[in-house]
Amino acid sequence: MIIIKTKQEIEMMKRAGIILANVHKEIAKIIKPGISTYEIDQFVEEYLKKHNATPEQKGYHGYPYATCASVNDEICHGFPRKEPLKDGDIVTIDMVVNLDGWLADSAWSYGVGNISDEAKKLLDVTKKALYLGIEKAVIGNRIGDISYAVQSYVESQGLSVVRDFVGHGIGKNMHEDPQVPHFGRPGRGPRLTEGMVLTIEPMVNIGKFECTVDDNQWTARTIDGKLSAQYEHTLAITKDGPIILTDQENI
Ligand code: MF3
Ligand code: CO
Repeated sequence: MIIIKTKQEIEMMKRAGIILANVHKEIAKIIKPGISTYEIDQFVEEYLKKHNATPEQKGYHGYPYATCASVNDEICHGFPRKEPLKDGDIVTIDMVVNLDGWLADSAWSYGVGNISDEAKKLLDVTKKALYLGIEKAVIGNRIGDISYAVQSYVESQGLSVVRDFVGHGIGKNMHEDPQVPHFGRPGRGPRLTEGMVLTIEPMVNIGKFECTVDDNQWTARTIDGKLSAQYEHTLAITKDGPIILTDQENI
């Protein structure tokens, strides 16, 4: 069942989204060789506390941290670690902010120090794929139109899209209907209507799209050890088009 949100409810989610966007902007400033993802996780916890918000991921199905921090071949659900990040790493920081019971979800990939041209291309293509998906998030389109826009662009660039993790509806719960795959056919799936709030969150690999899961039962990594990146926004479907609730640019 898809839970439609009122304008007031979308406003509440936007407030959570602004905090989340600001956290990412702060991470962009502090991330460099030598910092650990554990320190970033602690920074996020403190930042959220200061803003009267809480990290929804902590304790979710037993997940132990405020953030997911997925380095290099880790696709998603990486555990923050005390080991320092190195020059040339790429890392995706993903989190869900709860403010007064309303949620926003956004993941962002960062290059650490100087990264390879191959890694730069991966980040650029993944981010552009997210925004191409968002462009299709308009009333009357279907979920499959988003899926197809993302997949066709990524594959045209010689990269692959992860199948095992998808975007989702979000509101008072982290994961609501509908699912938003980043692969599929146009004109298929649920129709987009006013007041739906979704995440679009493509995970893109340089090599094969398949993944394996670590012994910790959480962390997914690429089957061939090649790099993976992810960008994710939470957005509302409105008469004026998609509104990105976790936008880092217009705040
Ligand atoms: N933020 C993730 C998503 O995009 C969910 C993380 S799973 C958790 O759906 F258990 F770590 F919270
Ligand atoms: Co997320």
